[in-house]
Amino acid sequence: MKKVNIGLLGLGNIGTGTYQTLEMNYEHIKDVTGVDFEITRILERDVDRKRPITVRPEQFTQTPDDIFNDPDIDIVIELVGGIEPATSFMLKALNAGKHVVTANKAAIAANYDELMDTAKANKVMLRFEASVGGGIPILTALTGSLLANEYEEILGILNGTTNYILTKMDHEDMAYEDALKEAQQKGFAEADPTADVEGHDVANKLSILMNLVFKKKVHPDDIQTTGISAITKDDIEQAKKDGCVIKLVASAYHKDGELGCFIQPTLLNKEHPLATVNNEFNAIFVKGNAVDDLMFYGKGAGPLPTGSAVMGDVIEIGRAISKGVAYDL
Ligand code: HSE
Repeated sequence: MKKVNIGLLGLGNIGTGTYQTLEMNYEHIKDVTGVDFEITRILERDVDRKRPITVRPEQFTQTPDDIFNDPDIDIVIELVGGIEPATSFMLKALNAGKHVVTANKAAIAANYDELMDTAKANKVMLRFEASVGGGIPILTALTGSLLANEYEEILGILNGTTNYILTKMDHEDMAYEDALKEAQQKGFAEADPTADVEGHDVANKLSILMNLVFKKKVHPDDIQTTGISAITKDDIEQAKKDGCVIKLVASAYHKDGELGCFIQPTLLNKEHPLATVNNEFNAIFVKGNAVDDLMFYGKGAGPLPTGSAVMGDVIEIGRAISKGVAYDL
């Protein structure tokens, strides 16, 4: 059986969810893929944190080069988050001939060309399904089964933390700060939750989607973005009285040569399909000119849903390695 070794950069919430996904479904993954995946090295400072996984002390390292220079490692999973040092880590891994999987929307949105070009130059694969929509396989669908379509519109709820906060404020009359704290405890929020509540995380995801769907590069900083930090309980109550809910909606269009995009808290009638997307769930609408309307729905944040997406990319690469085609792209 083909053995594929993985180096994991970061054992925080998503790193732990990824490790746990592989650990709990190890036999199943081995059976269906014919590949034996093992996370052999982990770059992580916090070795003492209690985690729901079994890690041996010798798997940990504090030296990134221990992973990049290890000839036995085939795939590097980058889950440290943020633009730097994550981008440099990915470039080092790609230049060392490793395939790379990441959930890092900030680094992919900011440095898409450099990362993709480096992967191509080294004939290795770079995959980032988990960067948009958590566990929802939206990027794989758009770049696979739906590739025959052209698109005019993207509409969605793309951040679990803010959707969780707005849902709790609406359904349970919870204070904004308490709901945010809960979202952080559940592992939905970014290390600095400002990126969530001010909409920057959504801007990164919308930028990646526009690139794949419209083939247009829009830097996240150029997307008109308003977050939810100014939303009050009174706003929520007023929306309720009017038969509406408030959601942080991302929208982009590319029609008749015109490109537009924005992210803002939006009043939605309770009957609107996005109005029933609650807690950490995300939903994404696209309209393809052949397939017509599509809506993707699922958990957009959280260790296991995101770990599922990361492992999906790892498995795709592992299968390509075992067929001997991963270096031939
Ligand atoms: N902080 C992000 C969110 C994590 O809440 O959606 C998933 O990208």
